[in-house]
Amino acid sequence: MPVRPIVRLGHPALRAPALPITPARLAEPFVQELIEDMIETMREASGIGLAAPQLGVGMQIFVYRRPTSMREPGAVVLVDPCVILLPGEPIYDWEGCLSIPGLLGLVPRSPRVRVKGSDRQGRPLDYVVAGPEARVVQHEFDHLRGRVFLDRMDDLNTLRFESDGPPARGLSHS
Ligand code: NI
Repeated sequence: MPVRPIVRLGHPALRAPALPITPARLAEPFVQELIEDMIETMREASGIGLAAPQLGVGMQIFVYRRPTSMREPGAVVLVDPCVILLPGEPIYDWEGCLSIPGLLGLVPRSPRVRVKGSDRQGRPLDYVVAGPEARVVQHEFDHLRGRVFLDRMDDLNTLRFESDGPPARGLSHS
């Protein structure tokens, strides 16, 4: 399970919509190895989420760790996901991105989302998440649409460097 290089802002893969995966393609070793490498790369980088375009691969796959179980092995794997925003006032919190190293910004996100897609075996998934897990899911889903957290900020004045110290609230890198 080798760690792969994470591409940074400026790489075209981060700005291109990722493509869906057929069930036959999902079963191929190439794709299963990619998923293993995504999990390993995320953990090595101390991230809580990683999307395939961040490894330069334009496939609709992302992985993440549930914020409540960061120490557990493995990760949630979502293939061809769809994220539906549920009603509720947006919540602002700090986000970082492994593809935009060093920068943090305050990003509004929906408090609850419904996630539909499949797992790495192609079995259907359909569940609702809230809070920090809803945030990481929205962040990763954006990567599959060629968007980064900067595009979601409504006040770029909140951008800051991580090396200048922790912001007042929690943060996540994905
Ligand atoms: Ni990110």
